Amino acid sequence: MATPKYFPTAGHLLVCQGPNCQARGSAPLYQALWRALDQGHLAYYKSGGNVRLTESGCLGACSYGPALCVYREHGGKLEQGWYAGVDFPLALALAQAVHQGAELPEDRRYGPDGG
Ligand code: FES
Repeated sequence: MATPKYFPTAGHLLVCQGPNCQARGSAPLYQALWRALDQGHLAYYKSGGNVRLTESGCLGACSYGPALCVYREHGGKLEQGWYAGVDFPLALALAQAVHQGAELPEDRRYGPDGG
């Protein structure tokens, strides 16, 4: 049986597309981030790229959107980063940190591994 091509990645960003986050601009945020990852060769399917980006349903931070979460293997463990009030500069900084294996930004971070 044929299997899908597997793309190894350094991390996975999920941008909420639930109704509350969409009302706060998460759709154009996702599109702008997607374009930046694609054009900057950060996207997992590009040569040199290793960042996976997908839309998600509600992430449970509806009053604080746009919400974004990131999962990656870092420091020998699974790390998760949760962010509220995300704008394009923060989303791009997150993607670049994942791409480079750098520490995730603390700005607007909440949840188990952050503020
Ligand atoms: S709609 Fe985005 S966190 Fe609920």
